[in-house]
Amino acid sequence: MPAPINDASARIVILTGAGASAESGLQTFRDSDGLWEGHDPMEIATPEAFARNPQRVYRFYNARRAQLEQVQPNSAHREIARLQDAYPGDVFLVTQNVDNLHERGGSAQVCHMHGELGRMLCLNCCARLPAPQAFDAQTVCPKCMAPGGLRPDIVWFGEVPYNMPSIGSKLAACDLFIAIGTSGVVYPAAGFVQEARAHGAYAIEVNKAHSDLAPAFHEHRVGNATEQVALLVEELLSGASF
Ligand code: APR
Repeated sequence: MPAPINDASARIVILTGAGASAESGLQTFRDSDGLWEGHDPMEIATPEAFARNPQRVYRFYNARRAQLEQVQPNSAHREIARLQDAYPGDVFLVTQNVDNLHERGGSAQVCHMHGELGRMLCLNCCARLPAPQAFDAQTVCPKCMAPGGLRPDIVWFGEVPYNMPSIGSKLAACDLFIAIGTSGVVYPAAGFVQEARAHGAYAIEVNKAHSDLAPAFHEHRVGNATEQVALLVEELLSGASF
């Protein structure tokens, strides 16, 4: 067992996936029939799919952005924010989710490694900008004023996730790595547990079932994120050692 970690020098990295937002009403990617809101992810979330049928991709992400207005952060988001705020050490939050529920749940620091629904990327001037409620190929980039270059600022399959160097440094220095609601099948995020453990971190998985990566973790908290994250945060804030 690693030494107790509940002081200002303690470093925690939390990785969240779709399971963290599931109880807010956002569908996960791999829990149902392999479809994502009724769509084959490979027909939406790849640069090739966007090149083939941009209108379909714009429509899909415009609908996902509109859906954010209908959902609220859940207690897992709020409890993670409480930990970030009240824990004496450093709590770095990295999410694969493109929703804004961590921010709305109170997290002041969120690293969106797969991009954000709330942003768009201009392929003409490379600016990453706040997205309006809906946009498409006709929308003019507010920065370079060119039409036709805007795409959702989402990291699609085959693209390099954002902020990998800073995530790598946090993983290399962390004492405790916690993965919440992620199936552990999409890399590089799926490799974070091994990376953290290679540097000596203790690893906890929070998931409603054991994920594909379960054997890589020291400990499992099985159940809904809302319930399990609240218990874990309470333990960490009351000085539990792991
Ligand atoms: N509480 C805890 N865990 C849950 C809950 C819940 N209420 N609901 C679902 N889960 C778990 C599932 O058991 C599953 O392991 O969340 C996980 C969701 O897995 P995925 O749907 O594969 O989502 P994620 O791991 O975030 O996907 C990673 O894949 O499609 C890409 O870029 C996309 O960021 C996404 C990446």
